[in-house]
Amino acid sequence: MSGPNQVGVVVGGSLTKSLEVRLDPGASAALGHYVMAPLDGGAQLLGMVTDIVLRSAEAGSVSWPPPAGDDPASALLREVLQDTGVYTAVEVTPYLEVDLTGGDNARARRLPRHFAPVALADQETIDAAFAVDEKASINLGTPLGMDRVEVCVDIEKLFERSAGVFGKSGTGKTVIAVEMLDARVQHSANRPTSADRTVALVFDMHDDYGQRIKFEGGERASLKGLHPQDVAVYSLERNAINVERRIEIGTRDIKPEDLDVLRDVTSLTAPGVEASHECEARLGIDWVDEITQPVPSAAVVRRLWGDEDAPEDVNWARVASRMGVHPGSFDNLRRGLRSLVRREFVRSGESQVNDVINHVVKTLQGGKSVVVQFGRHGNDLTSYMLVANMLSRRIWEEYREAKEQAQGNRTKEPNRLVIVIEEAHKFVDRALAGQSIFGQIARELRKYNVTLFVIDQRPSQIDSEVLSQIGTKFCFQLDSDADVDALVGGVAGRAALRQVIASLESRQQALVFGHALPMPVIVRPPDLPAVRTPGASLRDRLQQQRPAGAPSPAGLFG
Ligand SMILES: Nc1ncnc2c1ncn2[C@@H]1O[C@H](COP(=O)(O)OP(=O)(O)OP(=O)(O)O)[C@@H](O)[C@H]1O
Ligand SMILES: [Mg+2]
Repeated sequence: MSGPNQVGVVVGGSLTKSLEVRLDPGASAALGHYVMAPLDGGAQLLGMVTDIVLRSAEAGSVSWPPPAGDDPASALLREVLQDTGVYTAVEVTPYLEVDLTGGDNARARRLPRHFAPVALADQETIDAAFAVDEKASINLGTPLGMDRVEVCVDIEKLFERSAGVFGKSGTGKTVIAVEMLDARVQHSANRPTSADRTVALVFDMHDDYGQRIKFEGGERASLKGLHPQDVAVYSLERNAINVERRIEIGTRDIKPEDLDVLRDVTSLTAPGVEASHECEARLGIDWVDEITQPVPSAAVVRRLWGDEDAPEDVNWARVASRMGVHPGSFDNLRRGLRSLVRREFVRSGESQVNDVINHVVKTLQGGKSVVVQFGRHGNDLTSYMLVANMLSRRIWEEYREAKEQAQGNRTKEPNRLVIVIEEAHKFVDRALAGQSIFGQIARELRKYNVTLFVIDQRPSQIDSEVLSQIGTKFCFQLDSDADVDALVGGVAGRAALRQVIASLESRQQALVFGHALPMPVIVRPPDLPAVRTPGASLRDRLQQQRPAGAPSPAGLFG
C-alpha cells in the first residue's frame, strides 16, 4: 500500500517524544517536513520531522565499515549494506489526529501501528489540519521542501489575539508583516460595514507600510499603494505629500505618563520622571513650556510663592526646592524635556493631540487602516516611542470608552483594532512593562477590541508576561539562544522546536506557531513579486457570498 508520496514506515517511537520512521530506499525527508501516517479508524496522524538519524541494524557494519575506495568490490559492499545493514531514520514529532471526513481534529493521542506507511502530507490533509476549508485564511507559504503544498492560517484567528514577528535584521519580518496586513485590509474591505472591519494602526518607523516597502534591488507596493481607498497615511514630516494629515504634538499634550517609557532611550531617570508629576501638579497645563525656559518666568514665581514676597533671585534650583523636588532630578527632567521639545513636530504652547486623535479614531472607526509614517524621525527612537506611546494610549482610551458605552451591545461596539509596532522590546522592556500602554493592551487582551502586532529583533528583552500574551508567533532566524528560549520556553515540544529554529536560514524562512495554528509550521513565505495584486495571499473560498456591490477581491484561491 505504498502511495505516491510515501517516504518510509513506522518502526518505533513514543507519543510523548517522537515517532521513528525508517526511510524507504531512495526516499528522503528533511527537517520541517510534514508527514502523515494512518491511524486505526481512518484518521491520519500528522507530524513534523524534527530530527534525522543514521542507524545500523547490527553493530558489525558500522564497527567495520566497508572501505571508502572506488574499486568495484568496496562500492558493491557499500551498496549492499545501504538500506539493509544501515539505514536512515527520521524522528517525527506527532501533533494532530486529522479527520479527513470533516470531523474535529484532536491533539495526537494515539500512534500508528508498526510498519504503517508514512507519506509526505498532501494539501487535503494540511487544509483539514488547519481547519481552513470554509474559512477566509492567509497563505503563510510552503512548508520547507514541499513546494506544492500551501499552509494557510485562519485570518480571524490570527488577528483575534496579539501576534508577533521576531527575527534578526534582514530576515523578512517587515515583508511578512506587510503580507499579513495586506490580506487583513483586503478581507476587511470585503466586509459590509465598518463595524465588521478589523483595522490596523501602524507605527511605521522606516516608511515601509505606506506607498512602498523597501526591498533589495528596488521597492514594492505596500499597504497604501495596494489599497488606496482603505488605508490612510499620516506623517510627522512637515512637507510630506500625499498624506491625510500631518501629526504634531503640542507641549501641552505631554503628560508625565508619556515620559516613563522614554527612560530607556533618553537620559531621563526614574526620579526625573517622578519629578514631572510634581511639576504638572504645581505649574499647571503649561508645565513643559515653563520648565524648558532658561530662567523661571514670573508666572512660575507667582504660582509657587503666591502673593508672598518672592525672593529676588529665583532660579531653577530654588524652584526645585520650593516644590520639594531633588535638584538633581529636576535638572535631569529639564534637560530631558528640552531635548524633546526641540523636535520639529513638537509645537510649543499648544495642544494638538486631541485633534489628531479625533481624526485618527474617526478614520479607524470609519473602517480604514492608518499608517503613521515617521520619515526621517524614524531613526530617532525617542521620537518613535514618544509618538507611538502618546497616540496609542489615547486611542486605546477612546476604544475602551466606546466599548464600555456599548455595554455589550455588539452593534454599538467599535470595530476591532490591531496596533502594529516595531522595536517592541523598547516599549515593553522587562523594566518598563508596568508603565507602557502596550504592556496594558497586551494584558487586557481583546477585552477592548484592541490587540497588538509586534515586530522585534530581541524577544528576550520583552517582558515575559507580555510575551506570553502574544498568541501567534512568527519566528525567523534569531541572534541568540536567549531569544530562542524566550519564544519557545514554555511551549510543549520545545526541544524539537529549538532544533528547528537553529536550522532556519538567514532569510525568508520562519517557524510559525501559537494560537492561530493547531501545530507549528516551518514555512517559506510567498515571494513578494515586483507586481502584486492586492490581498494576494488572502484565500477566501466563500467570497462569492459577499454582498452585492462590494468590490471584487483580487488574488483568489486557485
Ligand atoms: N517573502 C519574500 N520574498 C522575497 N524576498 C524577501 C522575502 N522576505 C524577505 N526577502 C528579502 O529579504 C530582505 C529583508 O527583508 P525585511 O526588510 O523584511 O527584513 P527585516 O527582518 O524587516 O529586517 P530589519 O530588522 O532590518 O527591518 C528584503 O528586502 C528581500 O530582499
Ligand atoms: Mg524591517
